[in-house]
Amino acid sequence: MRVLVTGAAGFIGSTTAELLLDEGHEVIALDSLVRGRKENVPRRATFIEGDCGDVELVTSLGRFDACVHFAARIEPADSMAFPETFFSNNVASTFRLLDALIGTGVDRFVFSSSCAVYGDQVEMPIDEERATKPHSPYGQSKRMVEEGLEWLVRQGRLKAASLRYFNAAGGTTAHPERHTPEIHLIPIALDAANGKRSHLDIFGGDYPTPDGTCIRDYIHVSDLAEAHVSAIAALESQPALILNLGTGVGSSNREVIDMVKKVTGVDFEVRFVDRRDGDPAAAVASNGRARAALHWEPYRSELENIVADAWAAHQLL
Ligand SMILES: NC(=O)c1ccc[n+]([C@@H]2O[C@H](COP(=O)([O-])OP(=O)(O)OC[C@H]3O[C@@H](n4cnc5c(N)ncnc54)[C@H](O)[C@@H]3O)[C@@H](O)[C@H]2O)c1
Repeated sequence: MRVLVTGAAGFIGSTTAELLLDEGHEVIALDSLVRGRKENVPRRATFIEGDCGDVELVTSLGRFDACVHFAARIEPADSMAFPETFFSNNVASTFRLLDALIGTGVDRFVFSSSCAVYGDQVEMPIDEERATKPHSPYGQSKRMVEEGLEWLVRQGRLKAASLRYFNAAGGTTAHPERHTPEIHLIPIALDAANGKRSHLDIFGGDYPTPDGTCIRDYIHVSDLAEAHVSAIAALESQPALILNLGTGVGSSNREVIDMVKKVTGVDFEVRFVDRRDGDPAAAVASNGRARAALHWEPYRSELENIVADAWAAHQLL
């Protein structure tokens, strides 16, 4: 298949582009480099630097069998400060991309959605039938795209999968997790372990969880990448998919930090600071629908394995 991967210079996009190439697909990698790094893009892909919302540029690339759309700004806290940037980059650009892709006859579209569409939920795990109530403009931007896609599918314009990732983590030596700015717990903790940070801040120790710290569902980026390849295949027979991608197991910030200390063998200072705006106490996926629809198992996503792979990749940075 000829596949357009947007955001292919980023963490999850580059890992997925690599797997698509391994599976024999032709990959056109599009990224504005607003956040990612050119060296992340697999060498076997054709790299195009540009904005995914540039209709003329995307149209000039010709027809794609499928598009996997990772390109987005991803920082929930920034979205609270600059909602307009997130609606412009994550929503308006996505619909211009879709306009161009549909114009050239795309068949399948796989969208990077997020557990942020669920907002602050009390009952865990969260399944796909749960009412969405985004807690930040970032989460809202993801839900707005999902809703638009539901219309496009209903009107027969294309087939679409919205994949709601929980916390992507892990990494491979070719594609380590490295965001600028880094907002994710595991790479920040690894920086503290290898001395690049003096200490680690935990945002809030008074959440209604067993140890008072937030609980998240970590999924290995290589398991996520496999789910995308399977989603492209599944869209052949199903025009619409909305799937949680997580493990069903939650880990508290405390547990993750303890695991980083165990895997690295390094003790580092941990400080408790105020809660961050927009952080739910817990987010754990019910993943039964994805396992059935994609014939998929997140078998690399046990916490110790995630941290070990992240550490192996991180040490090469
Ligand atoms: N990392 C996670 O835990 C997580 C969780 C849920 C959802 N997601 C979603 O997964 C996707 C990928 O996340 P990531 O962690 O790889 O982030 P990332 O920042 O590493 O990658 C995003 C890439 O998109 C590019 N980009 C942004 N806007 C663009 C535009 N308008 N045109 C072209 N390129 C653009 C950036 O330059 C960057 O390379 C995002 O859509 C994110 O919202 C990530």
